[in-house]
Amino acid sequence: MLKDRIRNEHLMKKVCQAGEAAAMIKDGMTIGTSGFTPSGYPKAVPLALAERASKGEKIKINLFTGASVGDELDGALTRAGVINKRLPYQTNKDIRNGINDGSLEYVDMHLSHTPQYVRYGYLGKIDFALIEAVAITEDGHIIPSTSVGNSPVFVEMADKVIIEVNTSQPLELEGIHDIYAPQNPPNRQPIPIFKPDDRIGTTYIPCGVDKIAAIVVTDIKDNVRPLGPIDEDSRKISGYLIDFLESEVKAGRLPENLLPLQSGVGSVANAVLGGLVESRFEDLYCYTEVIQDSMFDLIDADKVLMASGTSITPSEEGLVRLYNNISRYRNRMILRPQEISNNPAIARRLGVIAMNTALEVDIYGNVNSTHVMGSRMMNGIGGSGDFTRNAYLSIFTTVSTAKGGDISSIVPMVSHHDHTEHDVMVIVTEQGLADLRGTSPKERARKIIQNCAHPDYKDMLMDYFERASSGPIKHTPHILGEALSWHQRFIDTGTMKVK
Ligand code: COA
Repeated sequence: MLKDRIRNEHLMKKVCQAGEAAAMIKDGMTIGTSGFTPSGYPKAVPLALAERASKGEKIKINLFTGASVGDELDGALTRAGVINKRLPYQTNKDIRNGINDGSLEYVDMHLSHTPQYVRYGYLGKIDFALIEAVAITEDGHIIPSTSVGNSPVFVEMADKVIIEVNTSQPLELEGIHDIYAPQNPPNRQPIPIFKPDDRIGTTYIPCGVDKIAAIVVTDIKDNVRPLGPIDEDSRKISGYLIDFLESEVKAGRLPENLLPLQSGVGSVANAVLGGLVESRFEDLYCYTEVIQDSMFDLIDADKVLMASGTSITPSEEGLVRLYNNISRYRNRMILRPQEISNNPAIARRLGVIAMNTALEVDIYGNVNSTHVMGSRMMNGIGGSGDFTRNAYLSIFTTVSTAKGGDISSIVPMVSHHDHTEHDVMVIVTEQGLADLRGTSPKERARKIIQNCAHPDYKDMLMDYFERASSGPIKHTPHILGEALSWHQRFIDTGTMKVK
């Protein structure tokens, strides 16, 4: 029944077709939308907007989201040429091509920075917030769907709000959210989260009837991403990592049930958490950003007491599993705004164990997560910096080679820096694990080459390191021209062949 989802009679008058709502969006506007790692993003209005543009109307907008969103938003609007500027994170093939061929501008940001940049006014005015909801309360407040992301700050700062009530999203999601907004300095107070399961806010995004410009009812499902099967390399990475966590418990540096886990996006990240299902660890907590399929396994195995994040990002099978068991999972999950899920102060207070994925790592422990060959944008830094910089333990995983073995993921010098040697504590590949805590650059280089590099590249890397070390400067030995030409060689060959 629609009145269960739109609980204020007067708001029923604002229900309209997607095309009518899209018509409110004009050339030059900035739109802040819901959505975080293809989950809980608006679909019907962006599709209608793309249609307008494809019929010849000149319209360009700045599109701000929580993180990556589905094809109905990023893909359709890119193909229709509607996006002028995009931030803070994406994973869509068409928008990635647009970023790299220069047809749109992209601002790759720490995800915890975006909401406060909006609130500080650094990113200009937000004209419309476009938010997917499961319901709207009698007072005009918004019950979000499978993600929270930046929706609260967009609703707070926008002139007007358009809501997509999505009837494919179960009403039972109500109650899973915990919405809290910090004030700007100098009035900011400590955020009172002391345990991952602390609830400190409301179950709805404050909005109010008057701010709502239009409501569109839709049933288009989240266009969720398939997860790759857990392969042998991911299994090995997960195994090294779990052995390492066990040794940290034995050494008295971690409690028996570890500390709150944060795990990045993608198949390796999913496999790492999946490995915990078989481990001896119990009573775990997660304080993370995205909740992927393996979290359902951990909850079903009674291993995780509470998973706090900003988005549930299941695969297609995971989505069905979530919907079929919503009441069980709802009691073990909290969805927060990304300025809280990724908050540096909370990550440091709780002592998060941060596990993220690198594209490449250099022999001194610097990490590139974003730029292939130094300039081609892959996705973006996402929340990896928010957690890595403030973690109790910061861990990066990667397979030791890419492109079928033609490229080593361990390199003399990363072609782009996302996470510096100062923030990276542990590197894990399918070859092994390098614990970098308390090591000098030269000690790090030996450990990373010996433990993590693929055997096909070990000698080349050690040869580089030894020749660099024979030079006059001994702290972080480099032969700069050669370090940079390491990548150039892949580009010059065109095929990225090295051997
Ligand atoms: N050099 C060149 N290309 C490389 C490479 C390297 N060293 N390492 C990987 N690649 C390529 C792969 O071949 C693949 O290319 P393809 O899409 O053409 O096949 C692509 O990069 C993705 O690699 P894959 O191994 O499939 O990675 P993934 O799905 O595990 O994702 C990241 C890895 C780094 C792209 C992803 O984790 C990411 O975007 N991280 C940054 C954001 C983040 O950490 N968010 C979580 C915070 S909570």
